[in-house]
Amino acid sequence: DTASADSARCPFDPTALTAAKGPTGCPVTAGAAAFDPFEDGYQQDPPDYVRWARDQEPVFYSPKLGYWVVTRYDDIKAIFRDNITFSPAIALEKITPTGPEANAVLEQYGFALNRTLVNEDEPAHMPRRRVLMEPFTPEHLKAHEPLVRQLAREYVDRFVNDGRADLVDQMLWEVPLTVALHFLGVPEEDMDKLREYSIAHTVNTWGRPKPEEQVAVAHAVGNFWQLAGQILDKMRLNPEAAGWMQYGIRKQREHPEVVTDSYLHSMMMAGIVAAHETTANATANAMKLLLQHPAVWQEICDDPSLIPNAVEECLRHNGSVAAWRRLVTADAQVGGIAIPAGSKLLIVTSSANHDERHFADADLFDIRRDNASDHLTFGYGSHQCMGKNLARMEMQIFLEEFTRRLPHMRLAEQTFSYVPNTSFRGPEHLWVEWDPARNPERTQPEVLTREQPVRIGEPSRHTLSRPMVVERITRLTDDVVQLRLVSPHGQPLPRWQPGAHIDIECGDTGLSRQYSLCGDPADTHAFEIAVLRDEDSRGGSAWVHQHLAQGQTLRVRGPRNHFRFDEGARRLVFIAGGIGITPIAAMAQRAQALGLPYTLHYSGRSRRTMPLLQALAARHGEHLVVHAKDEGQRADLAALLATPEDGTRIYACGPIRMLDALDAATVHWPDDSLRTERFQTDAPTLDPSKEHAFEVELKDSGITLQVPADQTVLAALKAANIDVQSDCCEGLCGSCEVRVLDGTVDHRDVVLTRTERDAQDRMMVCCSRAKSGKLVLEL
Ligand code: HEM
Ligand code: FES
Repeated sequence: DTASADSARCPFDPTALTAAKGPTGCPVTAGAAAFDPFEDGYQQDPPDYVRWARDQEPVFYSPKLGYWVVTRYDDIKAIFRDNITFSPAIALEKITPTGPEANAVLEQYGFALNRTLVNEDEPAHMPRRRVLMEPFTPEHLKAHEPLVRQLAREYVDRFVNDGRADLVDQMLWEVPLTVALHFLGVPEEDMDKLREYSIAHTVNTWGRPKPEEQVAVAHAVGNFWQLAGQILDKMRLNPEAAGWMQYGIRKQREHPEVVTDSYLHSMMMAGIVAAHETTANATANAMKLLLQHPAVWQEICDDPSLIPNAVEECLRHNGSVAAWRRLVTADAQVGGIAIPAGSKLLIVTSSANHDERHFADADLFDIRRDNASDHLTFGYGSHQCMGKNLARMEMQIFLEEFTRRLPHMRLAEQTFSYVPNTSFRGPEHLWVEWDPARNPERTQPEVLTREQPVRIGEPSRHTLSRPMVVERITRLTDDVVQLRLVSPHGQPLPRWQPGAHIDIECGDTGLSRQYSLCGDPADTHAFEIAVLRDEDSRGGSAWVHQHLAQGQTLRVRGPRNHFRFDEGARRLVFIAGGIGITPIAAMAQRAQALGLPYTLHYSGRSRRTMPLLQALAARHGEHLVVHAKDEGQRADLAALLATPEDGTRIYACGPIRMLDALDAATVHWPDDSLRTERFQTDAPTLDPSKEHAFEVELKDSGITLQVPADQTVLAALKAANIDVQSDCCEGLCGSCEVRVLDGTVDHRDVVLTRTERDAQDRMMVCCSRAKSGKLVLEL
């Protein structure tokens, strides 16, 4: 009968459905029916507006928009990865079709905005992108830094003594526009006109102009188009001049079929918007967010080396591109939902950036978040924003100028308004106030000339440390102390998951040591770790033991988690040796809280030397099995793990010997049963005389790189403008993991298990290399 046929087609709870229909005639849920990205709720806070969807219905059809809406990180990244099934062709299409009158106006101007890069399909796109990439490489971008600095200074000069300014109107709109025009090679004379026109282009493309506005918008867009054509003609007369457009004009001579006339004219218009509004809005969003968090603002004023991280976290938390679009070219699955060919997708990247599944404590604004640069504000894969490093540079310089010269500024009382549209997002005005009598430059003129070096590319993890104060030291055994660390001003700390660790920087020794968190994951006031004095260590634990005192400040990075606890396991075996109990303790506590069956095997030389033993015995009762060597109770791992069990996960941490023995004892277990955490490696440093060069093909980016014998894959990727996280650079931490699609990896890390290595589907690019020939990576 039809009712059951309907419910078979509808993946939703029928009681939650509405009268509004999806594309198959299947009714949609109330949330989906109500979704309207032109509403103020979406404009004010897109990730919050679709929070319900991220939680309950991550892929839904919006009848109001006629688009499928995708809200989770993994689903969106998978869409970006596959630019054949999910074509970018509609990226610049008008989201609200205009009426015949407006269309007639556009026609009258000969408006023919067509494919550029961002909306170009393969196979045309990649060759064009490659030919036009050079001006975006780090060495070329450096050349733009002096102009950005000079403009930032001049604009702040104009209002620094006023005590009040609208940062958008008085600086952030015009400076990125000027930089964009210089980058493109456009003469400055038409700036005012372009300003007016480019807003019209945003409304025309991503907005919902009312019928009576449409005609005015169409005139502005038509004018923009014609002006772009005239400027391009001017450029063709002097093609040797600096500028990305002139570079394109010169490349057209060599590759006329790749760099077409239609491309050049369209890019002349679209390029201004791509480079300008995105960056202006991103900086306005960043300043708003920072001033709404005065403690964070104060921190970056005190320590401007934090600015690159702050920029990245602002791009994640409150980026300027809220959503992007793709056209489905063949029947496909997105997040388990079948989506027919011809459907249009609104991929809400700002929602992905707040997805708890990828970003721990996602709504927290944390400028020391270690994976902030995973955000999708620049898109991902073969179309990923080419200008990302120019934008990052501009944002760093603007923030630096503000923190140096106006550290005492604050947000004025105001209501924020946004140009209603799906994609480009930033406040139209941003009013700030300060007391000019307190301007630092009045008493310290050197403030004006101090410069913080810009960082081209994503921020380095080594600058992500946060100061933390040792609140309490508790001796657990003769060799082990427990530390309770808190933030100096009581700022909340990120929540974490069992298995997470932090890195402690050991003063000026250049060393840092990783310690698993062993306190309460939900406690946002403190991190607790236990530290063993290890005579054999490279000095890190000795440093911690010697320099520890209550009230002392340490520098801490993280938390990070490469030892994730699978809450879906049916049964758990925890195995800890000595100080290896720290991550295991947090996991066992979680297993207990979830009511999962578990056993905790804890071994050590004697009960006296085993940290946390009493507390564990009290908490876990008969789930805890103690193996104390001096009592003749050594753990017999082979016997313990003799019979493999489906659905059982073994989590282990402890001495290398023990972990190696576990590897051997679980060969006959199902893949992935054993998960271990190691904090030491024997991996030697790169010896070029023993290495060979090889090729790496980056599938998602469509490029191939050479990795010479004296370079790591990681270094080669960074040189090619590909963002890859890295931290330890010696195969310990797992942060540089990349998926491998083809080729044989010579694994050199200690992160992957044997089964994981044998699967040949991922690698740590900081140390591992190709066995021979070529590797194909999912990057
Ligand atoms: C593409 C965002 C600044 C030039 C993109 C895309 C996004 C984006 C979302 C599409 C990515 C995809 O489909 O995977 C941003 C943001 C910026 C910014 C948030 C500032 C904060 C710039 C600047 C320039 C620029 C300053 C130029 C100077 C481009 C180009 C593409 C692009 C040329 C097309 C790349 C391709 O399709 O191959 N950008 N952008 N962008 N952006 Fe940006
Ligand atoms: Fe730590 Fe590669 S950066 S494993």
